[in-house]
Amino acid sequence: MTNIILLGPPGAGKGTQARKLVDERDMVQLSTGDMLRAARTSGTEMGKKVAAVMDAGQLVTDEIVIGLIREQLEDTSHAGGFIFDGFPRTLAQADALGELLADMGQSLDHVIEMAVDDEALVARITARSTCGNCGEVYNDQTKPWPADGKCANCGSTEQTRRADDTEEALKTRLLAYYKQTSPLIGYYYCKGDLTAINALGTMDEVAAEIAGILD
Ligand code: AP5
Repeated sequence: MTNIILLGPPGAGKGTQARKLVDERDMVQLSTGDMLRAARTSGTEMGKKVAAVMDAGQLVTDEIVIGLIREQLEDTSHAGGFIFDGFPRTLAQADALGELLADMGQSLDHVIEMAVDDEALVARITARSTCGNCGEVYNDQTKPWPADGKCANCGSTEQTRRADDTEEALKTRLLAYYKQTSPLIGYYYCKGDLTAINALGTMDEVAAEIAGILD
């Protein structure tokens, strides 16, 4: 069993690579962004509370996201290990994750920092679309929505774009990343868990780099 964190700014390709790992290895993706979007869609009180914060590109409170991760760790079977995607994003979240894993008799195996320059991030994010049914991620430039109008993964015609994928919200998301999340690079480096990769390559090249670390 291998537990990993994919750490990187919005648009670094964390979700794309996590889905690939789920398909290819017996791992479970835990994406706090996906959990929060699911809470919004189902109209829970918490979902309503976080909607405006997410659309503005700011971070949701530690209390809420740590609670979500705690629930998932308790409820999810973890045969091949967990991929933490978009969590932790603050030092408090990192400490909480360490404690939660220790309580389960587990630990982190790798923290993979996915480095991409801001210009490429803006290009990727503003070209992103997602299947509203299965969550498959597309990109107008690098992985276009199929010409027959149907998701290649599930056949749905529901192509969606995220409300926070605007240039304006992205500025706030990047600021939040540099101010609140990038200190985790030093935190995990000091623990000896961090490996940085250049995530500017093609999706397959990035996947090969990650596989090299995991194998
Ligand atoms: P979240 O959903 O986690 O968003 P994010 O971190 O901003 O990351 P993204 O999902 O935008 O990017 P990604 O790295 O997964 O890239 P992707 O693979 O899609 O969080 C959303 C919000 O929720 C936050 O702003 C916050 O409000 C809240 N939140 C979530 N977690 C939180 C937490 N822990 N604490 C507090 N608040 C939290 O790829 C992007 C695009 O690029 C796609 O189109 C893809 O096809 C394309 N692409 C991917 N890889 C490549 C490649 N190698 N080459 C070319 N194109 C590529």
